[in-house]
Amino acid sequence: MFKVIDGVLHVEDVSVVELAEELGTPLYITSKAKLEENIEAYKRAFPDAEILYAVKANNNLAIMRIIAKHGFGADVFSGGELYMARLAGFPSNKLLFNGNSKSDEEIEMGIDCNVKFSVDSLDELYTIQKIAEKKGKIVEIAFRVNPDIDPKTHPKIATGLKTSKFGIPWDIALEAYKKAVELPNVKPVGIHCHIGSQIKEIDPFVEALNRLFDLAVEIEKLGVEIRFLDIGGGLAIDYTGEGAPTPQDFANEILPVFNERKKELNSDPKLYLEPGRSLVGNTTILLTKVNAVKKAYKNFVAVDAGFNLLIRPVLYNAYHRVAVANKMDKEAEETYTIVGPICESGDILAEDRKLPKVEKGDLIAIFDTGAYGFVMSSQYNGRPRCAEVLVDGSRWYVVRERESYGDLIYKQRIPDFLL
Ligand code: LLP
Repeated sequence: MFKVIDGVLHVEDVSVVELAEELGTPLYITSKAKLEENIEAYKRAFPDAEILYAVKANNNLAIMRIIAKHGFGADVFSGGELYMARLAGFPSNKLLFNGNSKSDEEIEMGIDCNVKFSVDSLDELYTIQKIAEKKGKIVEIAFRVNPDIDPKTHPKIATGLKTSKFGIPWDIALEAYKKAVELPNVKPVGIHCHIGSQIKEIDPFVEALNRLFDLAVEIEKLGVEIRFLDIGGGLAIDYTGEGAPTPQDFANEILPVFNERKKELNSDPKLYLEPGRSLVGNTTILLTKVNAVKKAYKNFVAVDAGFNLLIRPVLYNAYHRVAVANKMDKEAEETYTIVGPICESGDILAEDRKLPKVEKGDLIAIFDTGAYGFVMSSQYNGRPRCAEVLVDGSRWYVVRERESYGDLIYKQRIPDFLL
């Protein structure tokens, strides 16, 4: 999917040098074949599960469309994600509306779209009941429960610890289901949890699944038919080259527990998964051009993308592999620190990397930027967001146009009295 021909990095059969000449930089470039490989890996590993793509990882319409066409559903976390996921073609009956702070308007929208809800608080439960009653509807729900499990990942992306803002606290989870059962316009049909992201060990998922089954046994006694157990997303990808579990590794540990413990229930629940990063993360590079090389305290390589376009290194100290895309056959000879154009010292994309000699005009590829890359971008420092390109064999498609300066002032107004 990513290969080198005559020293030049190619995404499938397309030279990134040619793409940069044609479209300018920076550019997010996605390989459709890689995405489909990831999709197939999940399908093979979990043939009977319902896979809900976590669209927060990458909500480009073309990318979501490919995933929807493969029969996956989607996990949406806001009205906006719900809107985009439906436009991309995910059917309503395969959408789960997550979120710990949904507005009444978002809840109304979800109910109008007939999606299932993952309910994060009792306040939300009562709001759903109220709006559903008004509309004469019955809404299917699962509670997002907080299983209090340490996923051993970066603290900012650990979500299933009892100290986290997410989910119904474990000790009142059964109570919450009791309350839901009494309400006429909500129907509990599943249990949901999500313990974190970029999780490299499978044990915490198995632990979470076991906890969901413990709870399911009790919930069934309330007369609830459990149609699904949703263990969320979170499977890691291999950013560093040290390896990461594959969907098959994941399935090998999850499915035996799922199939065994299912026997304790009268219901016949489906396993739900919500992968984001492990579907899209390694499908995409961020291509950025070198504006200047400077020998200072360090060898700084100043490129045209910064934390405005890729915030993960600054926010989570995340490591992304980098390469000089037009010098892939050259030996690494110096240590460089790749910095962006933003006026903050923290605007570092990659620190102390051994690379071939870097010069102005070179192209730097930043790998594994398909998840939480463009979606977390901003226009900070008056920088229009870049274009996104989808490559399919030797063809490429602009799937998001580069923003213009005009886009920087989109929706702004100067009040009359200032004119
Ligand atoms: N389901 C729920 C309810 C979630 O909150 C998330 C991610 C996922 C599924 C998908 O998790 P994944 O498979 O992608 O790990 N911006 C951070 C990651 C934040 C993850 C938020 N929730 C990063 O760049 O590392």
